[in-house]
Amino acid sequence: MGTKILVGNNMDKLKEINDSTVDCVVSSPPYFGLRDYGVDGQFGLEETLEEYIEKTVLLFEELRRVLKPQGTVWWNLGDSYASKSSAWGGRGKNSILNKTGLEDKQRRNTIVPNGLKSKDLMMIPARVAIALSENGWYLRSEIIWHKPNPMPESVKDRPTSAHEKIYLFAKNKKYYYDADAIRVPQKTESIKRAGRDYWDTNKIEAGKYAIPNIESAKKLNQKVLDTVAEGKIPMANKRNVWTTKYESDEEERMYRQGMSKTRGENVVFVRTKLPTQIDFVKFIRKRTSIKQLDEETDIKKTKIEHWFRNDESGFAFPSVEDWKVIKDYVNDWSKEFELIDEGLTYVESHLDSIESNPLGKNKRNVWTVTTKPFKGAHFAVFPTDLIEPCIKAGCPKGGTVLDPFGGSGTTGLVANNLGRDAILIELNEEYVEIAKKRLGEDLGLFSEVEDG
Ligand SMILES: C[S@@+](CC[C@H](N)C(=O)[O-])C[C@H]1O[C@@H](n2cnc3c(N)ncnc32)[C@H](O)[C@@H]1O
Repeated sequence: MGTKILVGNNMDKLKEINDSTVDCVVSSPPYFGLRDYGVDGQFGLEETLEEYIEKTVLLFEELRRVLKPQGTVWWNLGDSYASKSSAWGGRGKNSILNKTGLEDKQRRNTIVPNGLKSKDLMMIPARVAIALSENGWYLRSEIIWHKPNPMPESVKDRPTSAHEKIYLFAKNKKYYYDADAIRVPQKTESIKRAGRDYWDTNKIEAGKYAIPNIESAKKLNQKVLDTVAEGKIPMANKRNVWTTKYESDEEERMYRQGMSKTRGENVVFVRTKLPTQIDFVKFIRKRTSIKQLDEETDIKKTKIEHWFRNDESGFAFPSVEDWKVIKDYVNDWSKEFELIDEGLTYVESHLDSIESNPLGKNKRNVWTVTTKPFKGAHFAVFPTDLIEPCIKAGCPKGGTVLDPFGGSGTTGLVANNLGRDAILIELNEEYVEIAKKRLGEDLGLFSEVEDG
């Protein structure tokens, strides 16, 4: 497995990639107006939000060309607030200029897009997603990346922001998506009880448990105790990702589907041999009428009418009891009647439990992943856990993943570890060096980092 790094502006470098050769794109572009990466031609420093969105749409046109017909794009975007005096190009704590000492390219000191007011959440991810879907992309999922350790904010008039978005776009209606590769364990109480050791061991093996640093935990704890002793209650601002609590996943599932708690314990009767609606309606209409059944039986007319309807939503089969009453009026003892009769009266008993997929449940669209600082780069680096599912579900083994904003090379690293090839495009040569070093160190002899 190898990673190829193309150095330069992605709009130019994408032209060097052949049509229909990439399985999936996983990337995080610079967000609008947030950071200056210190190179000419960089994305994200457009004068207006409209321009930023237009540039994204143009870039996606190139991505459409290089993607295979069944290809997908996983696009990570964060939001920000309209502000008259932002850290835009300045030396605020988010500004890379602050850290690199690169020359401050004078920028406007206002980024309040047309139609918005200072303080408005700009809804940039949503606006980008809408523009792309209007441009022909199939917008298939809005994944919430929930950060349990968000950047602290000193705000007092809104919750602290603790999430970003990852949009899943498909080039065509039918596309490659391996749901089985990213299933999550069933967490019904019984499986939990029976398999606790199994799941826990699994997690440890997958490196999912962080070992806490006891010393720093003690220090933090002391700080909290001191604050309480001073009479202040240390409380963090409420974050903007809220989880409601149910006793178990099962309970939550039932609640959401409006089911009773005793589901799974009741016997229900199911008619497994029912005829099709078309066959039944044709059959009954030929042999009797609403009028006849209304006049000659005690069954309510409103009920009878449903048996004669051609539309799916208004139609209903007669119950076993009603069928016993009306079948005499049908007055037909042919082979056709026998089939319909058996279909309407054959009943199997089942428990009303919800069948679970033995491979696990489908991955949901809220992913909790902690951000991890990376010393080598001055910008937000993808946590590997965040993009692993994108690559597993979006790219078959042996396929090719593309990141047009390669940065420190996380996409290449994860792709290679999962047995996929990668192509990274990066404008800033300093970051290319970081990526090469990182890929070389992590992948050792097996990696093939190729400059393009
Ligand atoms: C948010 S960072 C990507 C970080 C990456 N996901 C990682 O894990 O390291 C965005 C990167 O895009 C690069 N970049 C900005 N404009 C670019 C352009 N027009 N072409 C190629 N790369 C660009 C920046 O230099 C920066 O490294």
